Amino acid sequence: MLIKRSPNGIDLPFPSEITPRAVFENRRAFIRQMAAGSIAGGALLEMLSREAFAQGVNPKLAAKRNPALSAQDKPTAYHDATHYNNFYEFGTDKSDPAENAGTLRPRPWTVSIEGEVRKPLTLDLDALLKLAPLEERVYRLRCVEGWSMVIPWVGYSLSELIKRVEPTGSAKYVEFISLADRKQMPGVASRVLDWPYTEGLRLDEANHPLTLLTLGMYGETLPNQNGAPVRVVVPWKYGFKSAKSIVKIRFVRDMPRTSWNRSAPSEYGFYSNVNPAVDHPRWSQASERRIGEDSFLSRKRKTLMFNGYDVASLYTGMDLKKHF
Ligand code: MTE
Repeated sequence: MLIKRSPNGIDLPFPSEITPRAVFENRRAFIRQMAAGSIAGGALLEMLSREAFAQGVNPKLAAKRNPALSAQDKPTAYHDATHYNNFYEFGTDKSDPAENAGTLRPRPWTVSIEGEVRKPLTLDLDALLKLAPLEERVYRLRCVEGWSMVIPWVGYSLSELIKRVEPTGSAKYVEFISLADRKQMPGVASRVLDWPYTEGLRLDEANHPLTLLTLGMYGETLPNQNGAPVRVVVPWKYGFKSAKSIVKIRFVRDMPRTSWNRSAPSEYGFYSNVNPAVDHPRWSQASERRIGEDSFLSRKRKTLMFNGYDVASLYTGMDLKKHF
């Protein structure tokens, strides 16, 4: 086993390199069963990765809370935030990512930053972790399906990365492209979305200080099901704008087509700002249920414009019914 300590105070190894205690203690039983032929090799691997998940062994990430950019809301329980997920590369049920994402290998990992930039870059995870001081930011996350969570994320403003690659005058939008590897992601075999999962922001939205390049949550590195090892979080937009497990960030001239926009253009616009006045054809956006707090019997809480974030100046003069 390899143990390193990075300058950011992150204790390695990563989850996939650790033998969970339960597995370690039960190894003899596993081996006996293997020898008896009652567990196939593949099934054993699957059991090991599920155990690693159950143990919650994500390494700690040291980060100082940024109170100015943090919501006062009570954070959602860690178990809820890690067991009620949307990550279609691992299945479409809310419980699928926690069950299936053990096959994702978040290390080694690189993100290439390319397109309309003067200084394209390819960064590995250690370089990403060192790029700027890590902050903890408690953000509300509102899903278009009508539920919300409050999560203490760890990362830094995406603008820190943007300024290093020096976008050219032609860069108007930023595309985020997630990993799409059939070997690691069983859901990619299904045609539920057009892979790779692609999202996008206008350059000024990407440069807004709230837009977080996210490497952790709850003081730890990201669990696989929440988009390990790196994702974005854009708190004033519906959750699907926050692409997970990103491998490419591309600066482009024209508004990019996104996975959800391609799959249902009348339902998912490019902007997708949280807006209680503009309903999705299948779900009202006027109110929401906070996971773990609001039951199906209690009254839903009102959804706030831009999810309660002060970003209206980004959209001055725009008709947000048209540009939904
Ligand atoms: N990113 C990828 N690559 N694949 C996905 O299916 N789902 C999105 C978004 N990012 C998704 C994704 C949706 S619909 C939501 S609501 C959020 O991730 C959920 O993030 P969470 O599971 O960490 O709460």
